[in-house]
Amino acid sequence: MEVISRFPNIGQTIFSKISALSNQKKAINLGQGFPNFEGDEFLYQRLKYYIDHGQNQYAPMTGMPKLREIVTLRHQEIYGNAVHPQDEVTITAGATVSIFCALSALVSPGDEVISFDPSYDSYTPNIELLSGVSKRINLTADFQIDWDLVKKTVTSKTKVILLNTPHNPAGSVLTQDDLDKLWDIVKDKNIFIISDEVYQHIIFDGKKHLSPFNDERMRNRSIAISSFGKSFHVTGWKVGYVLSSKELMTEFRKVYQFISFTTFAAPQSALADMMEKNPNYFQSLAKFYQQKRDFLRDGLSHTKFKVLPCEGSFFQLADYSEISDKEQNDFVMDLIDSPGVATIPISGFYQSAPKSQKVIRFCFAKTEEVLAQAIERLKTI
Ligand SMILES: Cc1ncc(COP(=O)(O)O)c(C=O)c1O
Repeated sequence: MEVISRFPNIGQTIFSKISALSNQKKAINLGQGFPNFEGDEFLYQRLKYYIDHGQNQYAPMTGMPKLREIVTLRHQEIYGNAVHPQDEVTITAGATVSIFCALSALVSPGDEVISFDPSYDSYTPNIELLSGVSKRINLTADFQIDWDLVKKTVTSKTKVILLNTPHNPAGSVLTQDDLDKLWDIVKDKNIFIISDEVYQHIIFDGKKHLSPFNDERMRNRSIAISSFGKSFHVTGWKVGYVLSSKELMTEFRKVYQFISFTTFAAPQSALADMMEKNPNYFQSLAKFYQQKRDFLRDGLSHTKFKVLPCEGSFFQLADYSEISDKEQNDFVMDLIDSPGVATIPISGFYQSAPKSQKVIRFCFAKTEEVLAQAIERLKTI
């Protein structure tokens, strides 16, 4: 028997190595991209309530009706885009599976998908599993999309443009100008847009989250992907949702029903109660994370790191060229050793990272106490 790997070149990722070393050296871990604090007590109580009251069997394939209703209500309030709760929203087992199902619904062998590096690590393996062609374009030095390059990369085989806003790891967000340029490129073509928006509510300085799905011109060709894990500090629950037009959603659901079929029922009801009880929750979430961002940025401004812009997400990039000229992986490994802080080299998010780039990612979804301890250590280098 011979096992022929579908991914012969994928081994242990740098992210796993960093986590292992960080644990071993007892470093302060600002690498891992999830909160080190708890979600809301009311949310947890409702989860326990629904488990104790019989919500332990399959939820409907499209998600609990109450959650679909409240998702669409909040969406309309925030973005002014009316979404049909039966036909245009599906509750899923988180964003990662949603991205795979959205790609599966659209990509046939040989179809090209354009995405932007640095990028979330599931995109290209997903495209390759579908025998699609992954075309990765580097963002500019200030982490913006070079639309001229996109125009040149589009061919008659381009099926999907895969976006991420707010962006992990760059913290950049799409602007109205980006949407206009995107529209210019796709308007006469049969190109769909998958928009990974898991950090949609973590957006700073009064900026508004812009999505191709909320843009009338592109609504019918867009699939927007969201994650409750990021918005409610419960990444381990793996509950998210997808919005799209009815026509696209029909295709999405055809795939999703055979990949996951549904997701954990009780958290869906708990999330619905939480969203019903707190109509302004998402606005307060942005403020909550903005404070953490500012705390980390202020701390890092007293170190030799150069802090880069961060408009959204819970990630802060910093340039270390004043500290070292080592490669990103080596620099990060050194930092874990001394002064004992784990971070992520953003070269791990690229197919081909710019040679001179000296940038690492800090996650600020951490308590102020942990952020403060890390900053004190970083001040020593
Ligand atoms: C850009 C991006 N997309 C998707 C995900 C995955 O979200 P989920 O946990 O809902 O699958 C993450 C998580 O880190 C992410 O950063």
